Amino acid sequence: MKISGRKGRYGIDAPYVPGGMMVGVIASIMLAVFAHPRAGWVAWAVILLITAALYLHTTLRGKFSVWRDRLDGMRLRGDERLLDLGCGRGAVLLMAAERLPKGRAVGVDIWSRKDQSGNAIEITRANAMAEGVADRVELHTADMRKLPFDDASFDAIVSNVAIHNIPARSGRDQAIDEAWRVLRHGGRLFIADISKSSQYRRRLAALGATAIRHNLGWRMWWGGPWMPTMLIEARKPDG
Ligand SMILES: C[S@@+](CC[C@H](N)C(=O)[O-])C[C@H]1O[C@@H](n2cnc3c(N)ncnc32)[C@H](O)[C@@H]1O
Repeated sequence: MKISGRKGRYGIDAPYVPGGMMVGVIASIMLAVFAHPRAGWVAWAVILLITAALYLHTTLRGKFSVWRDRLDGMRLRGDERLLDLGCGRGAVLLMAAERLPKGRAVGVDIWSRKDQSGNAIEITRANAMAEGVADRVELHTADMRKLPFDDASFDAIVSNVAIHNIPARSGRDQAIDEAWRVLRHGGRLFIADISKSSQYRRRLAALGATAIRHNLGWRMWWGGPWMPTMLIEARKPDG
């Protein structure tokens, strides 16, 4: 499905989530056929169906539209080195690369197929070719808790719904510390996530950043208004 308006193929984030919702819809409809009263099960089926539709909208279209706006708002010069933590099939990474004709868009990932359908370095490479930006894209198989880059080697860092996948709080702190380490002084960091954003903000504050947090709105509702995506934005003070 390519309703993102992009040339590449970007899969579905955490595909078991909408899959589970659709199983719930079918189960609720079956229960509504046999159970009395029916109204409760019909209501459940409708709620789950709307939630699944919102989820699919976010993963197939909404996140592209939100990040297109965010990347435009960053007003990149075009020669920066940008890092995407947990780039997956390249949804954000490759839109950033389009804005970096003389720069470099670097993606790191462990390519988990539980977190994104069809996730693989070869797919991201093929998407970079399809979008016409392969010449400025670099992909690394690496864990964001231990980045294979020098200190202060990036002008900007982005990450979309990736860091929450690290199960332990200490691991997520490690990922934030690593991002801060490889960001140059004066560089900017943008982390969008469905949970743990307060933790990221606190950790960044402990590292000396002034981080602000905002809600990215309905285009990034993964499970309705009660599961919004928050954006953490920080700038590393000049050294
Ligand atoms: C929901 S997907 C989002 C991918 C991409 N940012 C996007 O918006 O399309 C989360 C990504 O985080 C990656 N990931 C999870 N844990 C990671 C880790 N410890 N280090 C690097 N990547 C990780 C997964 O492999 C997956 O590609």
